[in-house]
Amino acid sequence: MKKKIAFIGAGRMATAIVKGLIQKKVYSSNEIVCISANDNTGTVLAQATGITETDSLLPLIPEIETLVLACKPQQLDQIDSSILEHGSQITLISILAGTPISRLSEAFPKAKNIIRSMPNTPGQIGCGSTAYASLNILETDELELIESILGALGTVHSVKESEIDAITALSGSGPAYVFEFISALIDAGVKAGLEKDLANTLAVETVLGSVKLLKESGASPEELRNAVTSPGGTTEAALNTLSENDFRALLQSAVLSAKKRSIELAQS
Ligand SMILES: NC(=O)c1ccc[n+]([C@@H]2O[C@H](COP(=O)([O-])OP(=O)(O)OC[C@H]3O[C@@H](n4cnc5c(N)ncnc54)[C@H](OP(=O)(O)O)[C@@H]3O)[C@@H](O)[C@H]2O)c1
Repeated sequence: MKKKIAFIGAGRMATAIVKGLIQKKVYSSNEIVCISANDNTGTVLAQATGITETDSLLPLIPEIETLVLACKPQQLDQIDSSILEHGSQITLISILAGTPISRLSEAFPKAKNIIRSMPNTPGQIGCGSTAYASLNILETDELELIESILGALGTVHSVKESEIDAITALSGSGPAYVFEFISALIDAGVKAGLEKDLANTLAVETVLGSVKLLKESGASPEELRNAVTSPGGTTEAALNTLSENDFRALLQSAVLSAKKRSIELAQS
């Protein structure tokens, strides 16, 4: 019988992974177990997907191959650490932001291997980017399993743990920058005289279309930017305003602030 995967935490990210695993047939619902605290999220997830909710993972340990840690980082101390006491064949995958492998090793000293991953919210629709680093080098079978599990959220990238703070700042927090940019573009469209609904539709379609063009053309962002920018034209006027106001420097300092905060969280 195929070994099971268990989730500690059944919130937004766990729900996205579980749905992706079932949809992509990596696991069937009867091979997935979850446990949550007391806000009903485990029951909601079990009812929505047909997976099993349990109030203790201990009796299931012999059947579990992979444990996904998907609670909030500040809830790590409340997890029943005896879970892996008898589970030395279990690989732990953590999606906890700002929680280094060293800290996870202290909490789960018996784990066979520990994977620290950083997914992002587009993973909720299978369009996420997830980076991961592992405590021990992954054997081929283990690598395939880990990448198929994290692949339920979208693309998967193996990285060094030292890169995870920068990745948190780029792709982990990145969706928020994009949403903030779109929101600002909508406000700017309204300022320029458009109805809010129309500004909203045009801003979203512009971002979506531009990203698709970028992916499908194989051109660089700079090449595509230059292709819309004729000398003395409207786009050039806008881009000049962006560069006069240090748009790139501003974005760079935002990303560096997020990276600094990720390092601080990992040390606290
Ligand atoms: N959302 C993002 O964009 C994003 C991106 C990358 C990484 N992450 C990481 O993903 C993790 C989960 O985020 P989320 O947005 O999915 O959080 P969430 O929706 O708040 O879910 C947290 C889950 O953990 C459960 N839980 C809390 N304490 C527990 C305990 N002692 N034992 C078992 N389960 C417990 C909660 O159960 P109850 O609801 O019953 O209390 C809930 O099901 C976080 O560590 C975050 O850093 C999130």
